[in-house]
Amino acid sequence: MRARLFLGSLCLTAAVSLSAQKSATITLQPDQATEIIPKEIYGQFAEHLGTCIYGGLWVGENSDIPNTNGYRTDVLEALKELQVPVLRWPGGCFADEYHWTDGIGPKENRPKMVNNNWGGTIEDNSFGTHEFLNLCEILECEPYISGNVGSGTVEELAKWVEYMTSDGDSPMANLRRENGRDKAWDVKFLGVGNESWGCGGSMRPEYYADLYRRYATYCRNYDGNQLYKIASGASDYDYNWTKVLMERVGHQMHGLSLHYYTVPGWVGSKGSATNFDNEDYYWTMGKCLEVEDVLQKHIAIMNEYDKDKRIGLLLDEWGTWWDEEPGTVPGHLYQQNTLRDAMVASLSLDVFHKYTDRLKMANIAQIANVLQSMILTDGDKMVLTPSYYVFKMYKVHQDAKHLPLELTCDTITVRDNRQVPLVSATASQDANGKIHISMSNIDLKNNQTVSINLADLKVKKATGEILTAKNITDYNSFDQPNKVTTTQFKDMKLNKGVLTVKLPAQSIVGIELE
Ligand code: AHR
Repeated sequence: MRARLFLGSLCLTAAVSLSAQKSATITLQPDQATEIIPKEIYGQFAEHLGTCIYGGLWVGENSDIPNTNGYRTDVLEALKELQVPVLRWPGGCFADEYHWTDGIGPKENRPKMVNNNWGGTIEDNSFGTHEFLNLCEILECEPYISGNVGSGTVEELAKWVEYMTSDGDSPMANLRRENGRDKAWDVKFLGVGNESWGCGGSMRPEYYADLYRRYATYCRNYDGNQLYKIASGASDYDYNWTKVLMERVGHQMHGLSLHYYTVPGWVGSKGSATNFDNEDYYWTMGKCLEVEDVLQKHIAIMNEYDKDKRIGLLLDEWGTWWDEEPGTVPGHLYQQNTLRDAMVASLSLDVFHKYTDRLKMANIAQIANVLQSMILTDGDKMVLTPSYYVFKMYKVHQDAKHLPLELTCDTITVRDNRQVPLVSATASQDANGKIHISMSNIDLKNNQTVSINLADLKVKKATGEILTAKNITDYNSFDQPNKVTTTQFKDMKLNKGVLTVKLPAQSIVGIELE
């Protein structure tokens, strides 16, 4: 049976199992283009959790692992390639137990703490405010600071903002200077708490709304720095949280966050990252695509209270969540990353592009060694995950004009009765006029011949790359780091305004049109 995806809405005609049909059509609709895809949709998240920071990003200046002022040189190079636009730190749950003054000044004087959320590991605070903000400068990305509301004070958060952003003769700016940094950093994104309904304080939305107003009042704009204040938002299907925050906080926030993980359930086993069957795989695709429905519902509530769309929705945690790899430290959330995870990344990004009139940021969890990582490290070894390659292929969409499209393809009915279209796609046009179309063939067995109607777009040349592997369970290990990687893609033909592309089974293809 055919599914028709039309201007962002999925219109299914009937539920069926896998069809033998192996073709799909896409019609680009450049005349309907209104939105720029904010580069922040490609945001990342780095938490003091497991080996994300220590070992993943930071090894310290005295490490034998090649480093640049303490940051792993191999990781820096890989991240520069991704054009990371924004990096959220220091958590997550960790943020609401983090006291920033512990992470400044001479390293030998920094107190230690127990990372209660994540395995009880001892945190030595050697990576703190300076180390994070300097990293953002190296990567040329925006920092997104997640402030402590759960166990911190208003004064503590207010002073942190002053420490980072005041350029005047103020006490906190002078303390920063004593610690070696003269000029203030530019810090735009400020999260006022994280998951305040859970690890961030177990609050009711009504109580948090009042707290937000109080904390946000004292987070000042110093010396031309303009904060974009983000209220801690809902988990997945908690629409009441969004409603209460919109009602009670309204325009005192610039953004409201949301978390949505592709996870089989919060209790018990979440399933192996690498050992899964076809049914599990298709279920994962359905669960991942459900983010569209979740976004639509939160957005509908926001629209009721904010017709002018002045408040952004920020999906500041998303991605897959599987069982920790056997033999790794419990609580460190270290998981492998297969072609299935790459598919979750491409499908999710395709959805996000459709809602950028409201959705202003998304941060995949997390950048290294935690959950759906871009990068895995082990001592001095590093591998790039299949998800990394999706972000690399998709970076062409950052700040490009979104081109709506109509897509028809077959669907499959998966466990939980969700309907999953077998092809996903998105398109954009960059500032130089180049058009980029990204397509995923979810189907594990069949190629898809996709006919793309380019409308009136004048196109002379098409080039492409592909991410695929022999098995959907394939991943990059330290022994085989290039098992799942991108290669050149040529299986396409351009004829009279129609581009015909043959998508192999379980593949992600990016096309550039000039
Ligand atoms: O990303 C891991 C954790 O998931 C974060 O710390 C928390 O915010 C969420 O529950």
